[in-house]
Amino acid sequence: MKNSRRGEFSSRFGFIMAAAGSAVGLGNIWGFPTQAAGNGGAAFLLAYLALAFALAYPALMAELIIGRHAHANVVGSLRFIARGRKSRALGSAVGAAGIVTVSLILSFYSIIGSWMIAHFLGTAADFPWLNGFGGGGLGGDAAGAGSGGQAGLTTAAAAASSSTAASSSAAAQWLLTFSLPRNVLFMLIFLGLTAGIIAAGVHDGIERWSTRLMPILIATLLCLVGYVMTLEGALQGLKIYLLPDFSALLNPQLIISALGAAFFSLSLGVGTMLIYGSYIPDEGKLPALGGWVTGVDVMIAVTAGFVVLPAMYVALHNGVEIFGADGALLSGDTLIFRVLPALFETMGATGAFVSLIFFALMTIAALTSSISMLEVPVSYAVEHFGLERRRGAYLIAAIIALISGGILLNFDALFGLVVAATTRYMQPLLGLFFCIFCGWIWHRDGILQELRKSQPDAERGLFWAVWPWYIRFVVPVIILLIFAQPLFD
Ligand code: PFF
Repeated sequence: MKNSRRGEFSSRFGFIMAAAGSAVGLGNIWGFPTQAAGNGGAAFLLAYLALAFALAYPALMAELIIGRHAHANVVGSLRFIARGRKSRALGSAVGAAGIVTVSLILSFYSIIGSWMIAHFLGTAADFPWLNGFGGGGLGGDAAGAGSGGQAGLTTAAAAASSSTAASSSAAAQWLLTFSLPRNVLFMLIFLGLTAGIIAAGVHDGIERWSTRLMPILIATLLCLVGYVMTLEGALQGLKIYLLPDFSALLNPQLIISALGAAFFSLSLGVGTMLIYGSYIPDEGKLPALGGWVTGVDVMIAVTAGFVVLPAMYVALHNGVEIFGADGALLSGDTLIFRVLPALFETMGATGAFVSLIFFALMTIAALTSSISMLEVPVSYAVEHFGLERRRGAYLIAAIIALISGGILLNFDALFGLVVAATTRYMQPLLGLFFCIFCGWIWHRDGILQELRKSQPDAERGLFWAVWPWYIRFVVPVIILLIFAQPLFD
């Protein structure tokens, strides 16, 4: 099924940066740290690490191996490994559902990504040496809580996306305040950037931009950790993050949410990792590559905890409210668009600079994830309908922009619904089907042949001793548990 016109990652580093770029997103920086803080600190961290490697990693491997074997889009790949008429039809259905789901994820992700760009520019427009720095108070009220999905996003994000407007110039105020025109404009800009990268292809678009942006992201994050740690109050946040409360681990709900977070974080279930896997050359050693991607993703989530938690307690030290009415730490949208900007305001000119860096970091994290999402429908359109890549990228981005526009027009009714339907239900369900394809439908020999391409003695390694069983039994059962999560509520 090898098609020489398809792109390929030109290096191991290129693939790792691209796939880690997909995995490292808003979920890592905004979801993980506060979830950890509210759920037993280091105990949650340990559960997350264990689950990421013992379960999310095997599920990631299923997608990578299927993709690399078929060298095709998600529908084509699942059909390729299917052995009968019925399983081929199932392959088409699962692939199509993946394309629809990832397009819907992109439609809400581009709205959040657009806020990051708007806040970056809003901070820049209000930069001290441009306008003089005013230390005004917070605009608006705190956003409500309530999880809309694994990302921890809420429908109250509307309120949350307007924060420090009180002290700003008119331009900054417009950029920092939630409004339909601003949201539509920046959603279009965000999707335009995403489409621009995807239009350039696997090597010149995805790989080039991921290898540029990811090192910047990692360096920025490390600088932020170093800086936040020097501030008063940081140590208290660090304690909350790192002191384990093992009693929290006895709560099955906690384990299930740590699993959900790990699955969302590794971009599983919707074909993004499958399509990136399809661009790995045959010489690439898949188990090691998947291990790198999981490692970088987990490392960045953990590192983000070293910024966000200490930053919250620095904010508390500076007089900013960090607990909600229920006594729990504020999280999600409230944290990103209220608590942190409020913290930056208390830090004067330095705060403006740190804010700029922080929203640049968030924009990069969002963009390297959004390109992986758009690649799923685009690769299908190119390979199935013969559409030219550039045209396909902009056409599909335009369709997704229409869906995003619809969500923005009915924000309260649709935003949380789309987040929950796609991340809570569709991702685990489709992840289950990918495992079924790998564990039950595709012949074991076929999988082994695929692994042997880069590792002739693959059947003697640890991976082959454990993974086939995992993917056949353990991972499907665990995904079913995640999927049945509402039943435990
Ligand atoms: N892994 C991304 C994050 O942590 O923000 C989210 C994501 C990307 C989900 C790509 C699904 C996807 F296909």
